[in-house]
Parts: sequence; C-alpha cells; structure tokens
Amino acid sequence: MLLFLSYCFALMHRNPFASDVCCRKGSKNALQELYNPTQPEYANTAVLHQLRRDQVLETCRVYSATSRKRRVLTPGDLKHLVVDEDHEMIYCYVPKVACTNWKRVMMVLTGRGKYSDPMGIPPNEAHIPSNLKTLNQYSIPEINHRLKSYLKFLFVREPFERLVSAYRNKFTRKYNTSFHKRFGTKIVRRQRKNATQEALHSGSDVKFEEFVGYLTDPSTQREEPFNEHWQTVYSLCHPCHIHYDLVGKYETLEEDSNYILWLAGVSDYLRFPTYAKSTRTTDEMTAEFFQNISSQQQMQLFELYKLDFLMFNYSTPSYLKME
Ligand SMILES: *[C@@H]1O[C@H](CO)[C@@H](O)[C@H](O)[C@H]1NC(C)=O
Ligand SMILES: *[C@@H]1O[C@H](CO)[C@@H](O)[C@H](O)[C@H]1NC(C)=O
Ligand SMILES: *[C@@H]1O[C@H](CO)[C@@H](O)[C@H](O)[C@H]1NC(C)=O
Ligand SMILES: *[C@@H]1O[C@H](CO)[C@@H](O)[C@H](O)[C@H]1NC(C)=O
Repeated sequence: MLLFLSYCFALMHRNPFASDVCCRKGSKNALQELYNPTQPEYANTAVLHQLRRDQVLETCRVYSATSRKRRVLTPGDLKHLVVDEDHEMIYCYVPKVACTNWKRVMMVLTGRGKYSDPMGIPPNEAHIPSNLKTLNQYSIPEINHRLKSYLKFLFVREPFERLVSAYRNKFTRKYNTSFHKRFGTKIVRRQRKNATQEALHSGSDVKFEEFVGYLTDPSTQREEPFNEHWQTVYSLCHPCHIHYDLVGKYETLEEDSNYILWLAGVSDYLRFPTYAKSTRTTDEMTAEFFQNISSQQQMQLFELYKLDFLMFNYSTPSYLKME
C-alpha cells in the first residue's frame, strides 16, 4: 500500500522533463516541425528563418569561392555543440550571447526531471562542463547521425557589441582576476609603453584601445586561437560546415528562444528566462568605446569579424571611421 501511494504521488508530481513524459509523442521531432510547420501562425517565422539560413549559405558560398583554405572538421571542433538527446536538439554556445541562460535551459531539457526552473540553477553551475554533453563526446557515426536528424541552432549578436561586452565583462570588473592574469598582463606588456611594475603584474587595468591592439596584432592568433569570449562565431560554431537549422539573434532573444522551445514541444512547461539587465552593452555604448580607436585599427578589427557581420546580416556600424 505504501508503495502504491508513493507511486501515485510520483505520478501527480512528475516533472514534465522526466524521461517518461519528456519527449514529443509519436510523430514529429523539432527538426521536422521546423521544416513542415503544422501551425499556420508560425508560417512567417519559418520564412524568416529560411532567409537567415540562406544568408549564411550564400556567405559561405562566396567565401569558399574566394578562399583557398579548405578543412575538414574534427571532433575537437565540436566542443561548443551541446546535445539534448531527449528533444533531439544541438545548441552551439557562443559566450556573450545569452549562453548562461541557454545552458541553464539545456540543463532543464536534458536533466530528466532534475531541474524545472532554469533560474534556479546558479550561473557557475551552468558552466561546469560535465553538466552538459557535447557532440565531441560521441563516436563518429553517432555524431553524423545527430548532425543529420537533430535540430541544430545557435545564437548570434552584433559582433562589435559582443566584443565590447566581452571586454567590459573580463577586464573592467574587479571580482574575477583570472582574465587579468591570463590575458591582461600579456596585453599590458605588449601594448603599453612605460607600463608600471604594478600594471605589468596585475594586468587589471587594460584599456579598450590596448585590447584592440592585442586583437589586431597578427602575432596574437599565430600563438594561439582567440579566447572563446572574443573568438568569432564562425570559428566557434563552424556554420559553413555545420548546417544550422535555426539562427537565433540576441536582438530577438526571447522570441527566437521561445520558438525553439515550441518546436521542441515543451513550450507549455518552459519559457526562456527573461531578464532586464541594466548593465547590458548597447549599440551607443559600443560606439563610445570605438571613438578612441584609430580608423586603421577599426578597419583591421572589421576585417577580423567580417564573416560574422556578413553571415548574420549585421550592417557595418555607422560609427566606424572607415575611408
Ligand atoms: C538583413 O537585414 C536587412 C536590414 O536590417 C533586412 O531588411 C533583411 O531582411 C535582412 N535579411 C535577412 C536574410 O535576414
Ligand atoms: C573567474 O573566471 C574563470 C574563467 O572564466 C572561472 O573559471 C572562475 O570560476 C571565475 N571565478 C569567479 C570567482 O567568478
Ligand atoms: C615614458 O616615460 C618617459 C620618462 O617619464 C617619458 O619621457 C616618455 O615620454 C614616456 N613615453 C611614453 C610613450 O609615454
Ligand atoms: C577615450 O580616451 C579618453 C582620453 O584618453 C579617455 O578619457 C576616455 O575614457 C576614453 N573613452 C573610452 C570609452 O575608453
């Protein structure tokens, strides 16, 4: 009797993401729902995402025609692709584009009932690698199967806004010194004439101009790839090799995110967390940071992030001083 009672209790309180109820029943998975929409109210949304996909494809076509670089992906290139087997989705995370909240949502989706509220997950927990499974952890046939049948998506943001956001987050805050030590000291050493011993040691007062000097110095990327916080989306997610079904944008974060949750069949239980962060980096703020950058460096910087601008349809910022 006791057993029976606890069984009933479990049934009444079951979490919508527990394995017995988690998944879209029967017919369509998220990918099929995207390409064969059953709800007429999403017809326009489907067209919008078709246009975004076409833009990526077209940019890749033009770029591969003019570039001699050819490469094949290896499992090591798939470290940013988070896999949700229960809802058959793959999310490529891009730092500084709502990635903490998307990782939280992925933890709810893959948690088999362990979590129900994304905001109940502490941010640092969302970044513990073992909490989410990434595509590089599978065998080659398993990778290919998932790339073919899962809905693959990513979120992008205006490239320079993302860059300023990374700079502000990693170099202008006092609380986390790991970036000051790892990158700040190197940037001060290379970019600042007459640096004080104190600045060389702490690396805690990197100016935006110095950060840009570091990024545009060709020897930086010869030594090692950019850190993921300022690496291009092109290099993190490989959109010319991996055919993303859905390109979400930071500018329409909630709308695009909730559409994905709807495609996954979970929109009755789960909404993308909304938050109004007053410290968020804006276009005006970005323009201000760029005021102190020479036109030559602006052009070099634009060259570095050009593919992200073109592929994701961001126009050249009007504040740039480009001749
Ligand atoms: C690209 O952006 C322009 C201007 O913002 C817009 O009119 C156009 O529809 C966009 N194209 C795609 C494919 O998103
Ligand atoms: C500081 O940043 C590093 C790298 O992102 C991270 O591993 C670490 O947990 C952070 N520490 C604090 C106190 O936030
Ligand atoms: C470096 O410091 C010396 C002595 O204080 C000064 O004469 C020189 O102008 C400084 N150089 C720069 C680039 O600030
Ligand atoms: C631009 O440079 C001036 C003079 O060095 C400085 O006072 C100002 O804070 C800088 N602005 C930004 C946004 O870095």
